[in-house]
Amino acid sequence: MPILDPNSFEFISRSPDQTRRIGIRLGSMLKPQDVICLSGDLGAGKTTLTQGIAVGWGSLDQATSPTFVLAKNYRRPDGSEMVHLDAYRLENAFEAEDLDIDQMIHSGPFIVEWPERILKALPEERLWIQMTWLGDEQRGLMITPKGKRHTFILDKLKNEMIKSFL
Ligand SMILES: Nc1ncnc2c1ncn2[C@@H]1O[C@H](COP(=O)(O)OP(=O)(O)OP(=O)(O)O)[C@@H](O)[C@H]1O
Ligand SMILES: [Mg+2]
Repeated sequence: MPILDPNSFEFISRSPDQTRRIGIRLGSMLKPQDVICLSGDLGAGKTTLTQGIAVGWGSLDQATSPTFVLAKNYRRPDGSEMVHLDAYRLENAFEAEDLDIDQMIHSGPFIVEWPERILKALPEERLWIQMTWLGDEQRGLMITPKGKRHTFILDKLKNEMIKSFL
């Protein structure tokens, strides 16, 4: 996990709503096989960001913390699906094998909280979002892309954020 990657984009969210709005922008760009890794401590805002992602992607279902079910599928009117996995309770990538992550990734955009728990089961190419608690309503987001597709997504997100002063 590079901490100082030249392709990284860093900014500060100042409210849960701002985090959701960023998620909406990101979600609207996502396609099947895009992999979004949401890393950060408890309460860093991973699920809050995912709520926005689900809205932007067009989900009919509201995103909630899947802590007790591990993985949730969100549907869109066109029948496509997005998978939200919370790997918090998984010990290692070995346990993740039973979940058939490849299948999840192929069926739609794939969002994973606590990705470091199952790193070996995840594809190399992904968008890594490191979230850090900075204060009551402040969260740092450091976004690092791996691979052409995820670099493209981040470039587009950056441009939109700059244009709209999000
Ligand atoms: N700028 C912000 N962005 C996101 N969440 C924020 C922000 N400021 C305050 N919060 C609050 O922080 C909490 C984040 O909770 P959330 O469930 O999204 O975290 P999480 O990273 O998914 O935690 P967990 O590891 O338990 O799943 C929420 O209560 C949210 O309202
Ligand atoms: Mg969560």
